[in-house]
Amino acid sequence: MQTFTQYVAGSNIDTSLKQLLHTLVNTSKEISKAVSHGALAGVLGETEQQNVQGETQKKLDIITNDMLKNALDNDLTVKGIASEEEDYVVAANENGQYLVCFDPLDGSSNIDINSLVGTIFSVLPATEDELTEASFLQKGCNQVAAGYVLYGPSTMLALTTGNGVQMFTLHPETNEFMLTEAQVAIPVDTKEFAINMSNQRFWQPAMQTYINDLIKGDTGVRQKNFNMRWIAAMVGDVHRVLSRGGIFTYPADTKNPKKPFKLRLMYEANPMALLVEQSGGLASTGYENILDIQPQEIHQRVAVILGSSNEVETCLNYHAL
Ligand code: F6P
Ligand code: MN
Repeated sequence: MQTFTQYVAGSNIDTSLKQLLHTLVNTSKEISKAVSHGALAGVLGETEQQNVQGETQKKLDIITNDMLKNALDNDLTVKGIASEEEDYVVAANENGQYLVCFDPLDGSSNIDINSLVGTIFSVLPATEDELTEASFLQKGCNQVAAGYVLYGPSTMLALTTGNGVQMFTLHPETNEFMLTEAQVAIPVDTKEFAINMSNQRFWQPAMQTYINDLIKGDTGVRQKNFNMRWIAAMVGDVHRVLSRGGIFTYPADTKNPKKPFKLRLMYEANPMALLVEQSGGLASTGYENILDIQPQEIHQRVAVILGSSNEVETCLNYHAL
């Protein structure tokens, strides 16, 4: 079985990108350790601070953000970073070739119940000019690498550099990521959906009708029964989709008219969309491919529908009516 180091050494990507991947992956091992110590390290619970999006930050949001920020700042390949936990973009190294967008601890509401959380990252090419927010506003199809590290019963890394998706599992004794899935392939059909059903009355009519038809199962137009899963951490739900198929959606809703979408484009939707597409699935807002969206600002939010290609197509047909 190949180690992550051996896999990266043999892959056909720039040396600078190899270095950056090592930085991200080594830091994720440290985060995995911090997360696993939980209450023993006094890292659970909230702080009194809010991020730019008005969410109360957990202690581990801040700790993991600082770990990644420091590690990336020390990596000369990195020109700048954008994080869910940073109001503005942060300059790193003037001559760096890459910009890194990340969610240091996705699903952090799961932290206090010892459930799934993860780190999501997206790597974009840096532009020549002086670093500003505008440098980051590139479509998701520009990503040169994307991935997540899931801190679950085992710590797993899913990675794409544009050549399919590989999964690695952290060996607890050697502390090495081992290649455990060389080519992830999402089944095209599924009987599993993931959505926060408590928002049902706030969705658009297209999503209402689609989900109603799933729930009707073999008594409705779909003629088969569906099961539902909701981990409340995108990283966990997308991992399930990559592992055995499914459809995951966080659609537009009118619950808070000032916030029609939940998930963030640059460090949640884009990296997950690239992983899903590189595994043979689809990722859309309902009206356009996630990877084709021209971002307007680093913390912008989007509707997300992703997963098994035939099922996502079916869902999109409801939106086209
Ligand atoms: O980062 C946002 C997020 O935590 C996602 O990981 C997750 O899918 C979603 O929010 C959960 O939202 P809800 O509170 O509606 O379950
Ligand atoms: Mn998140």
